[in-house]
This record gives sequence, structure tokens and C-alpha cells, in this order.
Amino acid sequence: MSELIRLSGIKKSYRVGDVDVPVLRGIDLTIEEGERIVIVGRSGSGKSTLMNILGFLDSPTSGAHDFQGSRVNGMDDDGISMLRGRTIGFVFQQFHLLRGLTILENVELPMEYLHVPPPKRRARSKELLERVGLGHRLDHLPRQLSGGEQQRVAVARALENHPTLLLADEPTGNLDSKAQDQVLELFDALHRDTGVTMVVVTHDPEIAERAGRIVHVLDGRIDGGAP
Ligand SMILES: Nc1ncnc2c1ncn2[C@@H]1O[C@H](COP(=O)(O)OP(=O)(O)OP(=O)(O)O)[C@@H](O)[C@H]1O
Ligand SMILES: [Mg+2]
Repeated sequence: MSELIRLSGIKKSYRVGDVDVPVLRGIDLTIEEGERIVIVGRSGSGKSTLMNILGFLDSPTSGAHDFQGSRVNGMDDDGISMLRGRTIGFVFQQFHLLRGLTILENVELPMEYLHVPPPKRRARSKELLERVGLGHRLDHLPRQLSGGEQQRVAVARALENHPTLLLADEPTGNLDSKAQDQVLELFDALHRDTGVTMVVVTHDPEIAERAGRIVHVLDGRIDGGAP
């Protein structure tokens, strides 16, 4: 396995009023290609902040972030957006589907941003929706689906760009146990079939059980130190 991500001394603070509130206090973390990692930790410990940095949605206050051997911090916004669009798939607790678009259109959206020609992106999106068991629902709007189905659409959307890294922040947090099982089985199959590197934040012991490695975040630090 080769190294995909290296975080060294990552700190993040937010300015609130005239004080800096430290949220990440020096994170060192190395992730190998194809790894399946679960991040756990108390509410407010900094897990989502860390995920946003891993997904290039936010940048650290200090420290070094390397991805595929290249230094990410210091890259300009266009370079970072491009890198994110090409390599990252993100799944959120709240699904974040666009309500006015059918599920097929939702899944197509990331490829539209990447200027993939319509017939190609349509075919890929259908294939992904079939894969997550929703091939018979292409023309439905998100609100016409159950929570578990909506989350499977979100997973399909996250896979649209053949991501190198799939990030999921409490992906089953809003689901009942049956829907949760379906999403977890989907993650198992994806990891087995595509070898995508997966980082999942969860409070759920069942997800943690399936991980190759569990990373504990405690007050903005990784508990137990470097791997
Ligand atoms: N934009 C922001 N401005 C100020 N403070 C923030 C901001 N985002 C997060 N924080 C603070 O950073 C801390 C960590 O937040 P974060 O969302 O990373 O926690 P978390 O571990 O994901 O928690 P949860 O399990 O509840 O989702 C919290 O105390 C939060 O108030
Ligand atoms: Mg969070």
C-alpha cells in the first residue's frame, strides 16, 4: 500500500468575536491507499472539522497536509477545487440532495461541474443508481424517497467522479436500523469492489467494528498518537 494522506501538526482555530478558539490542536495522521478508517470521539471534539480538512472543504490554520505526495496547503482555490472535484466523494448526515432535481439529476451534478458530456454522465449515473439499488426510482424527487434511499442516492453521487477518497460524516446518523444496515452493506461492497480509501465518522459501534483502523479524536488531538 502506498501513502495517500499525511497530516502533520495540523491545527485549526476559529475566530469567534476577538478570541481564537482552538479546535484541532496538532493532528498527525497518515492514511494509506485503500484503508478503511473510522473516526470516533465525543461531540465537539473536532471530527467534522478534521473531515472538512481531509476533503479540502476547509483549510488548516497551520501544519502540513499532503495528498498523493503533493502539498495541499498553499495551493490556490482553483487548484484545490479541481483536486476536490477529481478525487473526493463526500457523504453527509443530512444527505444534502437538491430538492428540485430528480435523483438521476442529483447524481449527475458532480460530472456536470467536471464538464463530462451529458450522455456519458447520464449512463454513469444510471449505473451508479442501479448499483445502490435505486435503478427503478430515477425520476423520483428526493422527498419521494425514504431516508435510507436518499442516503444511497448521496452515496451514488459521491462515487460519480471515481473518487480516490470517500469521506462520510455520520452517514447513518439520521437512519433507522434497517436503512442503516443497507448503507453499511453498501459501504462494505464498495470497499471490497473498488478498494476506495474510506474515512467514516460515526458514533455507531457497528460501523466501527467494520473498520480496518479506529482513530479516536479527543479535544482536537488524536488519542493514542500516530499509527
Ligand atoms: N465555523 C466555526 N466557528 C466557530 N467554531 C466552530 C466552527 N465550526 C466548529 N466549531 C467548533 O469546533 C468544535 C468542533 O466542532 P466539530 O463540528 O468538528 O465537532 P464534532 O466532533 O464533529 O462534533 P459532533 O459529534 O457533534 O458532530 C466545536 O466546539 C464547535 O463549536
Ligand atoms: Mg460532526
